[in-house]
Amino acid sequence: MSQKILGTFDDEKEEDAIVKEENPAVQEGFSEEYIQERKSKAQEMASKQRDISVAEFFEKNRHLLGFDNPRKALLTTIKEAVDNAIDACEEGGLLPEIIVEIIDMQNGRFRIIVEDNGPGIVKKQIPNIFAKLLYGSKFHSLKQSRGQQGIGISAAVLYSQLTTGRPAKIRSKIAPTEPAHYFELHIDTQKNKPEIIKEDIIEWKKDHGTRVEMDLEATYQKGAQGVDEYIKQTAIVNPHITIIYTNPKAEQTIFARVSEQLPPQAKEIKPHPYGVEIGRMAKMLAITQAKTLQQFLMSEFSRVGAKAVKEICENSALLPKDKPSNLTRQHVEKLIKGIKETKLISPPTDCINPITAELIEIGLRKEINAEFFCSATRPPNVYRGNPFIIEAGIAYGGDLDKEKTIRIMRFANRVPLLYQQGACAMTQSVQEVSWRSYGLSQSQNSIPAGPAVVVVHIASVWTPYTSEAKEAIAHYPEIVKEIKLALQECGRKLGLYVSKKRRIMEEGKKKSYIEKYLPHIGAALKEIVGFSDVEERRIHDILKEILEKSRKADGGLGRLSAVNDDPGAGEDDDILGDPSDDMPEDSDDGSSDDSYDDSAEETDDEEIEDEETERGAGQ
Ligand SMILES: Nc1ncnc2c1ncn2[C@@H]1O[C@H](COP(=O)(O)OP(=O)(O)OP(=O)(O)O)[C@@H](O)[C@H]1O
Ligand SMILES: [Mg+2]
Repeated sequence: MSQKILGTFDDEKEEDAIVKEENPAVQEGFSEEYIQERKSKAQEMASKQRDISVAEFFEKNRHLLGFDNPRKALLTTIKEAVDNAIDACEEGGLLPEIIVEIIDMQNGRFRIIVEDNGPGIVKKQIPNIFAKLLYGSKFHSLKQSRGQQGIGISAAVLYSQLTTGRPAKIRSKIAPTEPAHYFELHIDTQKNKPEIIKEDIIEWKKDHGTRVEMDLEATYQKGAQGVDEYIKQTAIVNPHITIIYTNPKAEQTIFARVSEQLPPQAKEIKPHPYGVEIGRMAKMLAITQAKTLQQFLMSEFSRVGAKAVKEICENSALLPKDKPSNLTRQHVEKLIKGIKETKLISPPTDCINPITAELIEIGLRKEINAEFFCSATRPPNVYRGNPFIIEAGIAYGGDLDKEKTIRIMRFANRVPLLYQQGACAMTQSVQEVSWRSYGLSQSQNSIPAGPAVVVVHIASVWTPYTSEAKEAIAHYPEIVKEIKLALQECGRKLGLYVSKKRRIMEEGKKKSYIEKYLPHIGAALKEIVGFSDVEERRIHDILKEILEKSRKADGGLGRLSAVNDDPGAGEDDDILGDPSDDMPEDSDDGSSDDSYDDSAEETDDEEIEDEETERGAGQ
């Protein structure tokens, strides 16, 4: 092309012009040496540029996966193995029975053993699951589970290998009639591939299940961020599991299940169009099997029927019969804009399994020695197209410390979150609730103080963690709002109890004053007015009766406990008189500024059915 443009010049000039155009630097007056130097530097840099395996990356950045100090490393390793074990049992429809053992190997080394009675893992998959980072069954599906990233257990194997050089030892069996497969595995970090050190078939007196054994450098400590606490909290929010836990001091604790009922099987859903961004939409369009845009939208997303497709296409100036693979980047942008302008029904929410308010309370009662318990489960809501449910619970009084700030127990899909409390949306929400109205002390926007434990749980098909270490929940406004509403719901019940308790204590105080001072008044009257003993006793009794009557005797400790036993206490409150004057109104309670069309959700149900029938017909 350059020769064509320069065609009117004579040969020499033309050549010179070509060189100059090909190398504008010469045109700009840079020396040949300078140009050579620049080129060779870039070549030298190019020789060092190469692929980085994900395993090499995390080898250097282990803190991103929760292995930044030895204490946390022990917790993270146990957590990844136990979460997987419970997920596997639940997916296999089996009531989980998990054995966890930590053995002190001395010199800062520990051996961890986690064994489950789950469905087991087929032989071919064992090496990839345990010794290849980013390999798993949960990442590509929108389904509520503890794990989601496909990196948890292999990251633990990597840490174990880095700190002790010893292989992870895995055994797994899928049925009583099948053999148990045994593997010793390392990760080839350069290739991010499993390296099989040993492979065998062994005797294992178990019908099915998986056992993981790893050695690692770690520190064992009790306390709020230790393994003991993680196990205890896991038992609180998973009343259907049994955990047999032996700590490094060889102390065994059995957390026996209190419910024989498995949570309902989690349902997988397709993404909701509102939650899909341009890059992901482009990728989905590139790999879809659908022949037309209409088919694509109806088959790959939830809540898109024929009517919605028509509207989306009108709003994005595209045709339903357009071929997905022909759409350019500009088209994808228009499509996203069109989706945003179309009112769509909220994603289905029956795919979320809350713990339920009742079981949260049972769990709290089982593990915490308090005098008052309450809990709440919010209706489902949506962030970035992902459905979620928030639940909260409070334990109050009893053995809990009155002077300290309250303890916040955070859970995501029934997994306790023990680190990064300050960075978590749950903590922010607790701070933003006005707890003074509910009987706890609080300085502005801080964690309240008083004898209480607050539980917050998020259940979602995709939990928005702030990092791969899965320690804190991101601050999506929809999530923060729901947490606050759940806390306020519990807070109101707590407030009723606390104000009732305060009143009863004041009553008790007055009663004791009466009992203390009346005999003195009687004696004084006897002396001043000259009453006889009989008259003194009579005046004492009359005064006592008058004072007792004038006290508003509206309850006793027996009635107070009724507040606690009544799960609906606070809603219909004739036991308690009318303490509502003590309570603030939560202005935002129950209101919802969803971007979703809730009215559409109700009225369009029929339409969905129709659309689904059409969809079936169209395919
Ligand atoms: N004990 C087990 N029994 C059966 N399958 C298991 C077990 N442990 C792991 N798996 C399988 O191995 C996969 C990888 O586990 P891994 O912990 O690495 O990732 P994940 O659980 O999918 O996500 P995350 O990284 O969030 O934990 C899981 O998705 C699951 O399919
Ligand atoms: Mg996992």
